[in-house]
Amino acid sequence: MIRLAIRVARDDAEIALAELLELAPAGVEEVDRGDTIEYAVYGAEGELPALPDLRAAAGAALVEVTTTHVGDDWASRWRDFHRPVTVGGALHVRPPWADAPAGSADKADRQLIDIVIDPNQAFGTGAHDTTRLCLEALLALENPSPPTPLVDLGCGSGVLAIAAARLGWGPVLAIDHEHAAVRAARENAHVNGVQIEVRHGDLRHGGPAPSAPTVVANLLRPLLEHVAHSGFEGAPPRVLVVSGLLRAEADPIAAAFAAAHGLCERERRESGEWAALTLAR
Ligand SMILES: C[S@@+](CC[C@H](N)C(=O)[O-])C[C@H]1O[C@@H](n2cnc3c(N)ncnc32)[C@H](O)[C@@H]1O
Repeated sequence: MIRLAIRVARDDAEIALAELLELAPAGVEEVDRGDTIEYAVYGAEGELPALPDLRAAAGAALVEVTTTHVGDDWASRWRDFHRPVTVGGALHVRPPWADAPAGSADKADRQLIDIVIDPNQAFGTGAHDTTRLCLEALLALENPSPPTPLVDLGCGSGVLAIAAARLGWGPVLAIDHEHAAVRAARENAHVNGVQIEVRHGDLRHGGPAPSAPTVVANLLRPLLEHVAHSGFEGAPPRVLVVSGLLRAEADPIAAAFAAAHGLCERERRESGEWAALTLAR
């Protein structure tokens, strides 16, 4: 097993990370090395991102790329950074190897909704800022009662679609162009006992995006711009949550959806370098 590590300048680390996650959607190990941040992925030879792609992703932030052969503990190290995360005091997203949250002793407390996500090779442990901001945005929406449809564009592990189904949306449709993501989302839906349709589809080449009264889209800016321009099948969503944006990208994306679909910014959430928007008609 090989550990492929890329060290980048701290000031540009978030921007480099956004690019790296395109190459390693299941996530990267993050090690703080003072002036630099090291991101690492583990895999067998031939499974790892290509060096020229890595260098291009890190761009000017690149300091060093190193590869090391690692021993049998790589699996536990990998697991080490898929940690449980609690969002908005309501959702607990954890990998299968972490314990379920203890039941609340205080009956007045809201019981946490326990969601088990095994990302396998797909993006979305719940812990990444872009995912967490989407989960917070979903929690802030009125709970759909009776259930109303929701679409998750770029579902990765299915974490947002599954959380939405647990929160009462339905039917829920999840889409991704990675076969690994489609597989992971289906398996995770099964493990969590929710019915969601997971469809393989490419938002860049598949025409207008599927729509529903509520749509969540944790994608990067270029793909969100593409969706804004190519539009939605049928009526645009009444509420659209977009994430995967660097803070400076939020205004142009809000403007693009306002101009093309009359979706206006209702809320903006920020964490680290990242921003997510709730847009509504
Ligand atoms: C940032 S991840 C979000 C995953 C998950 N929804 C979450 O919030 O954690 C973006 C996802 O979009 C998918 N994606 C990227 N380009 C796509 C495209 N052209 N069509 C469909 N899905 C795409 C990726 O495979 C990845 O799973």
